[in-house]
Parts: sequence; structure tokens; C-alpha cells
Amino acid sequence: MLTLQVNGAAHQVDVPDDMPLLWVLRDVLGLPGTKFGCGIGECGACTVHVDGRAVRACSLPVVLVGDRPVTTIEGLADDQVATEVSKAWLEIDVVQCGYCQPGQIMAAVALLKSNLHPSDDEVDQAMAGNICRCGTYRRIRAAIRNVAG
Ligand code: FES
Repeated sequence: MLTLQVNGAAHQVDVPDDMPLLWVLRDVLGLPGTKFGCGIGECGACTVHVDGRAVRACSLPVVLVGDRPVTTIEGLADDQVATEVSKAWLEIDVVQCGYCQPGQIMAAVALLKSNLHPSDDEVDQAMAGNICRCGTYRRIRAAIRNVAG
């Protein structure tokens, strides 16, 4: 039995130690906002925050999370930076099919929380691991620039 801190609450989960965090979040805790894409840490669809840093939940065995706080897209409802990011996403009309967008937003929020005024290079670097099949990259960058001011 493990205790996970997810979105501000403690959860006891009875799962194998090597179960990826992604499946604990989706299938055990019922948080489907974190998406499965590649399953090998390469697309970013499963991005969550662990201790405030963007990580790939598909490639993180749950036992390695320990007592570090986990935040999913569902946990950002009252977050000020995330609210600004969501507004910018709507203003720029970023979303196309939408599948990768929770991961994109998690990566953008992690970037802006660590660096409120990132350069274009820093934006590109932070977002490089989040793939969008619809090619919304330019709008994603524009939305992040809107928040960064
Ligand atoms: Fe985790 Fe693609 S599903 S990086």
C-alpha cells in the first residue's frame, strides 16, 4: 500500500510498485485528464507535475513518486497561473483535436511557474517534448507569450 499526495489530498493505493503513475491516476484514482499517447516518455501527453516539475507519468513507476506532491490537470482548477494560461489558450484558439492539450498546458504552467518571462528559446526548449499531431505549436507559443507578457 502506497500513499500518494495528488491534487492536495492523500490517497492510499494498493498497486504494484512498478505501475506507471499514469495508470494509477487514470484507472485507480479516476483522473482521466492525463492522457496516454506513446507510453514511452516521448510525446508528453501524460505530463503531470511532481513537486512542481513537469514529468512524464507514463514512464514514472509509482513507487518513485514517494511523498512528493502530484498535480494533474484536474488539480489546476484554482491555480492562478493555470487560469491565465487557459485564458490565453482560448484567446489564441489553440486547440484543434485537443488530445495533447492537457499535457501541453501542464508543461506551459510548469514553465511559467519557474520562469514568468521566458525567452522564445526557453519556451521552445520547455515545450519541445510535447508533441501535437495537429501542429498547434505556433499557437501554443503565442499563448505562452501572451501570459509571459
Ligand atoms: Fe507519456 Fe507519451 S504517453 S510521453
